[in-house]
Amino acid sequence: MNKRVFPALSLALSLLLAPSMMLRAEVANKDKPVVWYNRQPSNSSTGELDMDALQFNDKTYYVGFDANQGAELQGEMILDYIKGHIDGLDRNGDKVIGYVLAIGDVGHNDSIARTRGVRKALGTAVEEDGKIKSDPVGTNADGSSSVVQDGKLEIDGVEYTIRELASQEMKNTAGATWDAATAGNAIGIWSGDFGDQIDIVASNNDGMGMAIFNNWSKENNVPTFGYDANSDAVQAIGEGYAGTISQHADVQAYLTLRVLRNALDGVDIDTGIGTADEAGNVLSDKDYVYREDERSYYALNLAVTAENYEQFLDSTAVYEPVSKQLDAEKAPVKKVWLNTYNSADNFLGSTYKPLLQKYDDLLNLEVEYVDGDGQTESNITNRLANPAEYDAFAINMVKTDNAASYMQILQQ
Ligand code: BGC
Repeated sequence: MNKRVFPALSLALSLLLAPSMMLRAEVANKDKPVVWYNRQPSNSSTGELDMDALQFNDKTYYVGFDANQGAELQGEMILDYIKGHIDGLDRNGDKVIGYVLAIGDVGHNDSIARTRGVRKALGTAVEEDGKIKSDPVGTNADGSSSVVQDGKLEIDGVEYTIRELASQEMKNTAGATWDAATAGNAIGIWSGDFGDQIDIVASNNDGMGMAIFNNWSKENNVPTFGYDANSDAVQAIGEGYAGTISQHADVQAYLTLRVLRNALDGVDIDTGIGTADEAGNVLSDKDYVYREDERSYYALNLAVTAENYEQFLDSTAVYEPVSKQLDAEKAPVKKVWLNTYNSADNFLGSTYKPLLQKYDDLLNLEVEYVDGDGQTESNITNRLANPAEYDAFAINMVKTDNAASYMQILQQ
């Protein structure tokens, strides 16, 4: 080959091939898009948002769902059920509607909100400094606990007491929270202690709710309520599981990857979210809210009960309004590092991750999925050893206080 042509050719070739590689190498890790999802950076004791993490750079967001709206909905769903099914609900006829509550993680905002939502709706809430107490009661056979109080409810002229007989955080001995197996064991102990005093089971999520349903409530016909609308739980509504809440995981999974896509493309962050993109993807204000001051997208929740569960049977179906493939020329393939805090978490494993895996194709993102063990943050951060290899990051912390350990890595 002519000596002068060769360098020119190889330069042309490298210019053709290099853009995506060059871009990745050029952007410092600290300037790459970051999405915190499912576990909002916050103080696990006070719930206060960690704004340093939420504003790590100008391409940082949180994606979750509206915890308070969902929690109120869960409480009201249970209250409506009691009112509508009072005949035969009070199993021992003592006029006390006793319930037990499975708590996911005492330091997780979603879990705290759900505990509060149930207590508020059922009249069992006790306030301290203007906030409903969300600690577990342990056991409360006689109603004397200071964490909750007995609620009163009149139905058809009959006065009932509503009592939280027992509640505990479902954390296993290794430290994993929201632990379904622990909930399955707890109901064995609670049913031994309280027997037919238990008329209702409420759970902060479906993973724990289903463990209780399968181990005990199904056989004993005790209405059990969860949260997440995982496919197995929705299916179980046909077999007596009483209800769950959809936190619109289809919208959340989309938003998790969509904000990264938009930040990577340098387009308006609202593209394909509140404003239709070229492919026609767009969400409506019934699907989510965005709070600029919190840098957070929150999907809105829907109650799933015997009346409507058939529409929710497949929790991993892509949401139709945002199901269109992006053009790979305008939105070229980018590499994303994404973790889940616990490979054994039912919601993330059976609902959220399958959805992410569908949206990553539609959005032309090549995602490296890393699953944690639910207990040790370093088990995950150790696997973020080469951030320079990725264009963007989606992070699901083990503990909501731990954002700094990820930011440190990205700042290096
Ligand atoms: C879900 C739980 C899940 C937790 C994990 C919550 O939003 O409802 O099911 O275990 O997130 O962080």
